[in-house]
Amino acid sequence: MSHSTLRVARFVGPVFTLAVVATALRLLAADVPTTPALSTLAPAADLEVAAQNYLTKIQGFLVDEATFGKNKDQLSQKANAVVAIAQTLGNYDGKNKFQAGAVDAMKAAADLAKAGDYAAAKTAYDALSAAMAKTGDAAAAPKWEKAARLGKLMHETAEVNSRIRRNVRRFARTKSESAEDAAVLLAFAQATIHDTHEVKNPADLPKWYAMAEDMRNSAAALSKASHGGDEAGFKAALDKLGKNCDACHEVFHNE
Ligand code: HEC
Repeated sequence: MSHSTLRVARFVGPVFTLAVVATALRLLAADVPTTPALSTLAPAADLEVAAQNYLTKIQGFLVDEATFGKNKDQLSQKANAVVAIAQTLGNYDGKNKFQAGAVDAMKAAADLAKAGDYAAAKTAYDALSAAMAKTGDAAAAPKWEKAARLGKLMHETAEVNSRIRRNVRRFARTKSESAEDAAVLLAFAQATIHDTHEVKNPADLPKWYAMAEDMRNSAAALSKASHGGDEAGFKAALDKLGKNCDACHEVFHNE
């Protein structure tokens, strides 16, 4: 080997190593997916109605201390759902009712989800309804970051999923309720995309993102089909959604 070849080798070696390391790092830090304009996926109005319904249900759990005591877990699960819904409404393109208070609503709903006693739950509930009633210009959108608790969100996902499956037998009569449920699942999927703590191996991040996005897109297809009165399309989207749940659990939740 001539002297000059050696010099080149000594230079190319480290550069090559750096390039390999850079590629590996890029793979590990898989890009967080960008969110499409949410209004193209489901109407904000469906999520507004759903948020209001969650609030009404939660209020029912707070009528007195005994009722609170009996329904603490359900209350926590519903409040946790509101965290994801407020996060999604706060990020909608175009105005919606809850945009002005979305960040406050997320915080109040998270406090409500972990309220240890009746007094704390009532205080958090009041803060939540105040945040949801807030009007005026949209504040800064909440960040897409881990906010709702994933385990609780999955339990609520399962409840909504079962309701949609029950209702599909009476599609014509239930399609507007299912449109709301589809929007809720869309919000849960959006929250899931941004909570990657169950991904133990960073190389699996792209898989997580893709699978949670698949769920989001199936929810959008459900929304579209319910609004279009397209029963066959709705059933096809529901089949796809079921496969999305299974595919992700197989990789990330298979004990
Ligand atoms: C992107 C991945 C992903 C998708 C998509 C997904 N899940 Fe999950 N699911 C998880 C993970 C991870 C857990 C475990 C969470 C935990 O224990 O905190 C879980 C847990 C659950 C649980 C709780 C099971 C238990 O052991 O307590 C249920 C129920 C559930 N999911 C239902 C669903 C349904 C229904 C769908 C589809 C509509 C769905 N999931 C879609 C990742 C996913």
